[in-house]
Amino acid sequence: MSQPRFSITTAIDYPNGKPHLGHAYEKIVTDSYARFYRLTGHEVFFLTGTDENGQNLVKSAESAGMGTREFVDANVAHFKDLCQKLRISYDEFIRTTESRHEQAAHSIWKSLEEKGDIYFGKYEGLYCTNCEAYYTDLQAPDGKCPAHYKPLEKVTEEGYFLKTGSYQDWIVNHIRSNADFVVPELSRKEILSRLEGEPMRDLSITRPSKGWGIPVPGRPEYVIYTWFDALINYYTASEPKGFWPNSTHVIGRDILWFHAVIWPIMLHAAGLPLPGQIYVHGMVLAADGRKMSKSLGNGVDPFEVIEKVPVDSFRYYILRAIPSNSNGAFIMEDLLKRHQSELGNDYGNLLMRVVKLARKRIGDEIPTAGIPLHFNFEPFIAEMKDLMGKREHHRALDRLWVEVNRVNGYINDQAPWALKDADPESRTRFVEVMVNGLYGIDVVSQVLSAFLPDTGERALSALGRSPGLLRLVPETYHLSDPPVLFPRMEPAKA
Ligand code: ME8
Repeated sequence: MSQPRFSITTAIDYPNGKPHLGHAYEKIVTDSYARFYRLTGHEVFFLTGTDENGQNLVKSAESAGMGTREFVDANVAHFKDLCQKLRISYDEFIRTTESRHEQAAHSIWKSLEEKGDIYFGKYEGLYCTNCEAYYTDLQAPDGKCPAHYKPLEKVTEEGYFLKTGSYQDWIVNHIRSNADFVVPELSRKEILSRLEGEPMRDLSITRPSKGWGIPVPGRPEYVIYTWFDALINYYTASEPKGFWPNSTHVIGRDILWFHAVIWPIMLHAAGLPLPGQIYVHGMVLAADGRKMSKSLGNGVDPFEVIEKVPVDSFRYYILRAIPSNSNGAFIMEDLLKRHQSELGNDYGNLLMRVVKLARKRIGDEIPTAGIPLHFNFEPFIAEMKDLMGKREHHRALDRLWVEVNRVNGYINDQAPWALKDADPESRTRFVEVMVNGLYGIDVVSQVLSAFLPDTGERALSALGRSPGLLRLVPETYHLSDPPVLFPRMEPAKA
């Protein structure tokens, strides 16, 4: 039987500085879905990358006293470094300055032009250079950018336009009739209400060339508008690998419009299949509940966080403490508390005490054949699949912790330390409890490895196993000294 397939993408990031906490957040979330689907038997394609053609990068490079290419390359190296440190298991990293991407952007451009969906014209509107986007009066009634709070510039420009306005009814209908196309529901409602609130204007899809960006085919005095080319990245990288249409695009709220409206219109107009879903996560806020920003000085640097705590404590906090469908504040003290209690006490100690006791009284080889099993993990796995399918990873981790505590509760109730070897019945019972304890650790660690890869690997290795496809049947365990996964930390260190 062929494996089911699943493809997932992050947004591609602007490399106009080092990656921030929001970037780290999105990558960790997406990585957990990619790993979970691999674990449960899917053939997965996980794409991430950088969005490198915007005019903003030229300005940022100038301020940094660097050439644009040199500036972008240096920042992309930081993004790749962060991915490696966070154990992001992407299959491909696309950079939109690669020639394969220019070719794909040109091919979609040409097909839209041939179909009569691109025309040359004049545009007047309120523009934010930071967002590289126009705003309507409805979105910016005070004439200020809703994201940057700076006055918008009135811009009149000649250039090419995409006939997005002609597809308004089509996109409303598509979103309405496909309940899972935009999730969560809040985002779906938001986009429908915006679409129903005002007529859509055609999208300006070029800018006068200043020597950076993808030239318009046959009109090199123009470059393709950065959003138009950036969206195409998904197609550029996935299609040749046989993964188009893509299953799920993971994005933040601020870029919902482009993904839920513009991108599907581009694809539909070009006669290409649409992605299955846009999953919209919330924004990570500063501890004070405000947006993180350089000027407020309330930002958190992901590189600094993982110098202080294990990467998996960071991943765990991000995934469980911040709800999958709403904004959430990043509070370092909370992270440390969860590191200590949930990771250290609930999970780390379970591994430690069961493996140590089994080694001491049975040895390193623990055969499991013929021993009655007291856990049935099927319903747990079914619930995990359901929650991950609904893109509710924080609830999936809550559910996983119910299971961690069930195994803990089992060990506490059975009190194996009180079962003495001298009595044969008691000894048999002791072995049975140990096998079941190890089996419980085995299954929860396999599932945990989707969220906390390092922890899962190290815990399984103490049982003589390694992560791979989910296995719900125990085998002989080959025990070794269990690692201290979550060392105690002084809160003051934060
Ligand atoms: O928007 N919390 O790039 P970007 C959570 N290049 N997520 C956050 C966040 C926060 N505080 N801040 C940003 C772009 N993000 C475009 C995308 S895709 C074809 C082009 C998320 O570097 C943001 O919502 O500004 C987006 O999904 C991603 O980080 C990249 O943001």
